[in-house]
Amino acid sequence: MFNALSKVWAVALMNTDIVYLNGRYLPANEAQVSVFDRGFLFADSVYEVIPYYQGVGFRLQQHLDRLAYSLRAIRIAADDDWRSILDGLVERNGGGNLSVYLQISRGSAGSRTHAYDQSMTPTVFACCSPIKDIYALGADQVKGYTVIVSADLRWHRCDIKSTGLLPNILVLQQAREAGADEALLVRDGLLSEGTSCNLFVVRQGVIYTPKRSSEILGGTTRELILELAAEAGIPFQEVDIRPEELANADEVWVSSSTRGVIPVIEIDGTPVADGQKGPLWQQMFALFTRFQHRLMTGEK
Ligand code: PDD
Repeated sequence: MFNALSKVWAVALMNTDIVYLNGRYLPANEAQVSVFDRGFLFADSVYEVIPYYQGVGFRLQQHLDRLAYSLRAIRIAADDDWRSILDGLVERNGGGNLSVYLQISRGSAGSRTHAYDQSMTPTVFACCSPIKDIYALGADQVKGYTVIVSADLRWHRCDIKSTGLLPNILVLQQAREAGADEALLVRDGLLSEGTSCNLFVVRQGVIYTPKRSSEILGGTTRELILELAAEAGIPFQEVDIRPEELANADEVWVSSSTRGVIPVIEIDGTPVADGQKGPLWQQMFALFTRFQHRLMTGEK
């Protein structure tokens, strides 16, 4: 009885979340999109996931720049005031630490037709959910990932942040069913990235990461890692990385907006080096923490 009741409460609470849809803020359970929306029918849409800490967007401009890139790449003409839409959403959901999701689809033509008409009105949807402030938690609280290595079955425009995520989801599910946290993807004998994160390999004090191309997403966290490494004088190289090279890695990391930089401690059942979070990862985590603190406090 208690369980059944608490479930009802959980649903009710979730439904009181305020979302943004096409110019309006409204409770999630009142937001409706046409069944002919091309985002629903064809994954004809792009998205961003942006962390907000204490109500402040983390690398918001970088996310908005990538959104503009994705929209241009799939030829959706939408240039709303994203910043004020998202800030307004965060405020209406009580501020704090939130992961904000923004999706823009090409819209609905009122029927299912492959070809589209340039005059369609895009559907703009945003919602948010609570996240932990990984930087406030401290390095000890970060759990090292176990990963599997799997084939990259995605299209060749992974630089576009499209909602067409079926290959990512299927491989992630394969990882989860194998008891792992993530999967590293391999295409044509080269590592590309994770199912929703970028990849870094550390060897003899140098950080290696696959170079930017249409085979990977240009991650905002990836960019920040390289910026922080440059500032701190840690050498890095953007290069091709073969899966065999993972066996000789001193450290492996993955990165994404909501998870920051995460150490990988085991790959396909084999520990990475001694299976502990590595010293360079500890340093990078500290650099991230300081960067975030400066951002939140406005300190230079
Ligand atoms: N994913 N690569 C892929 C395929 C991704 O989906 C993501 C982000 C990244 C990292 O990008 P960034 O550092 O800008 O978050 C790399 C988001 C978080 C998601 O799909 O939820």
